Formats: sequence, structure tokens, C-alpha cells
Amino acid sequence: MAALEPGRATVPSPSRRRFEDRSVIVTGAASGIGRETAVRFGREGALVTVADIDEEGARQTVEAIKAGGGVARARRTDVSDPEAVRAMVDGAAEAYGGPHVLHNNAYWAPLGRPVADTTLPEWHRTIDTTLMSVFLGCKYAIPRMVAEGGGVIVNTASTAGLVASPSFAAYMAAKGGVLALTRSIAFDYGKQGIRCNAVAPGLIRTPATDPVFRDQDRLDFLTGKLLLGHAGEPKDIAEAVLYLAGDESRFMTGQTLVVDGGRLIA
Ligand SMILES: NC(=O)c1ccc[n+]([C@@H]2O[C@H](COP(=O)([O-])OP(=O)(O)OC[C@H]3O[C@@H](n4cnc5c(N)ncnc54)[C@H](O)[C@@H]3O)[C@@H](O)[C@H]2O)c1
Repeated sequence: MAALEPGRATVPSPSRRRFEDRSVIVTGAASGIGRETAVRFGREGALVTVADIDEEGARQTVEAIKAGGGVARARRTDVSDPEAVRAMVDGAAEAYGGPHVLHNNAYWAPLGRPVADTTLPEWHRTIDTTLMSVFLGCKYAIPRMVAEGGGVIVNTASTAGLVASPSFAAYMAAKGGVLALTRSIAFDYGKQGIRCNAVAPGLIRTPATDPVFRDQDRLDFLTGKLLLGHAGEPKDIAEAVLYLAGDESRFMTGQTLVVDGGRLIA
């Protein structure tokens, strides 16, 4: 068997945590997938900036990270506000260096809205919170990453960015944009040491999907379409995010990792 390459390319030893001393920003980290991912980054030694518009939820995530022996700080951030996102990135750099990893995960979207029923404020809020936020995070983090010799971006997309979902017009447009932006960043910054990938979750049990889980008929209908027969949990996405953020995926960029219980191929 060929010898493993030296340095960062080697498989990490079990004693070394995967993100030791890396400055990691997670947006939308006060809840659901973002919280679970932030907690796992903390467990793996990262210095975590927990960014969210929900201050109390962000504080709880920080407490969960600290309870596990990790290092984290809460940062109130409205990801649709350019100055707030700039301050989020600058604050992470001042506190922890880097940033070495940016996980753009926050979102907002109205449910049950085909395009003709989507109001202009709903459209703008969805695009600003779900798509422009990714642009802003990357815009402010990439120059710092390049100056440090590289960095990793993981964007949370959705299967709704790849195939049609009913009455979800603005969200689908935003998530399709997230996937295109992911490829654009991978194209433009790969040679400067930046990797950029997306994770596309299917149905995951979080506060956002709580109404689905409280409606048994709807849940049965949706899980009936999944080859694995059940919905996913935040940890299923968090593990994919840590893989995309870590050295194990060092030869991947511009990709979309679909984690959907087998919905799209069915
Ligand atoms: N849950 C699913 O089934 C599912 C499926 C596909 C994709 N996703 C994606 O996963 C990501 C996380 O979703 P979730 O299910 O964990 O949702 P969630 O509602 O549990 O968490 C979303 C977080 O985003 C934060 N947020 C909203 N607006 C914000 C703003 N302007 N600035 C900063 N933070 C803001 C909220 O406060 C919340 O903490 C989203 O990008 C979502 O589109 C989820």
C-alpha cells in the first residue's frame, strides 16, 4: 500500500481533534442544523463564532459548546445586513484568528407560496437572508482567508435548490443561487487555497420543520418518498458539514453533497 503523504494530508490521529484551534464561523447557529454543527465543531477543537439574529438561542449554543469543553462566543448577526456580516467576520478574526472555516447556514423563507402569491417583501427577505447572506459572508471572509494562505467555505443549500418543491418559489430561487455561487467561488479562488462546497439536506427534523412533524399524514407522505423511510436529524447534516470543512475532503471543491435519505434518486 502506498505511504500516506506527510503533513495535513494524513489521516488525523485519534488523539488530535479535527479542527483544533481553527476559527470557525457558523451562521444560523442558534437552532437546528447550525446549532448541531457548531457544537460538533466545538467538540473537535474549533474556536467557534456562533452567529445568529436570535441572541438567546446563540447564547444557549455557546453554553452547550462550553459544557463539552469547547471554546465559543455568540455574535448577534443579521446575515442580511452587510455591515453586520462584515463585523461578524472581523470579530471572529480578532477573537480567534482566520476565519479558517465559514459555514453559511442561516435562512428565512415563507412556506406555501407559489410565485404569484409571494409578496415583494417576502421575496426580498428570502433572497437577502438566504442568498445574499452567503455572498456577504464570502465577500468579507475570502480576503482574510487568502491572506492566511487558504480557507474553507461550506454553504447549506437544499434539495429544493436542485429539484422542484411545491409552493416554495423564493426559497427554491435562493437555494439555486447558493449552489451557483458555491461553484463560482470554487472557480475563482481555488488556486488561492479556498475550497467551497455545499451540503443539500433533504427533510431534517428541526424547529423549522416542526409543523411537518406535527402533521402525521404529511409526515407519512414525505417520508414515504425517502428510500430510507425516515427523516434525518441535524447530526446527519452536521457530519457532512464537518467532512466538507475538514482536511478529509481536501480534493473536493464546487460540489454539492446531497444528504436526503435517498429522495432525489428515487
Ligand atoms: N430542516 C430541513 O429539513 C432542511 C432541509 C433543507 C435545507 N435546510 C437548510 O438548513 C439550514 C438550517 O435550517 P434549520 O432547519 O436548522 O432551521 P432553523 O429554523 O432551526 O434555524 C435557522 C436559523 O437561522 C436563523 N436566522 C434566520 N434569519 C436570520 C438572519 N437574518 N440573520 C441571522 N440568522 C438568522 C434563525 O434565528 C435560526 O436560528 C437552512 O439553510 C435551511 O434552508 C433545512
